[in-house]
Amino acid sequence: MKPVKKILVLNGPNLNLLGLREPGIYGSETLEGINAALLSLAGELSCEVDFLQSNSEGALVDAIQQASGRVDGIIINPAAYTHTSVAIRDAIAAVGLPVIEVHLSNVYKREEFRHKSLIAPVAVGQIAGLGADGYLLALRGMVSYLNRA
Ligand code: DQA
Repeated sequence: MKPVKKILVLNGPNLNLLGLREPGIYGSETLEGINAALLSLAGELSCEVDFLQSNSEGALVDAIQQASGRVDGIIINPAAYTHTSVAIRDAIAAVGLPVIEVHLSNVYKREEFRHKSLIAPVAVGQIAGLGADGYLLALRGMVSYLNRA
């Protein structure tokens, strides 16, 4: 039997406020709701998911480093750090795990400073603009990527 794939889901700053935060842009779903939907999809896909949200760049870097050798892939919404964090990008490049980047909003039709992702060049792919569904699509995408690899 193939070993069960383990996927870490990371969320960056202010995503703990989903549901309250600018619902016209980010939707009314809470992060707890998104994580519950991911957990249920993980059951269907026979994989394991683990979750961390942090407002701190260093905690996200630590989580990526600690994921090395423990998980098979990472789904990350780096939130505002997408556009600024060389440290998160370097951590992803250092551990070499496959990463799928998720954004609830379509960052490319928003302010220009959101058009640049420092993470995209070290990610397998990116999903933006599909709201909470983006996380579920990312989980399906990660499992099929890992099964192909
Ligand atoms: C976001 C987009 C970022 O530009 C923003 O800073 C966020 C959320 C999204 O999910 O659409 O905090 O990553």
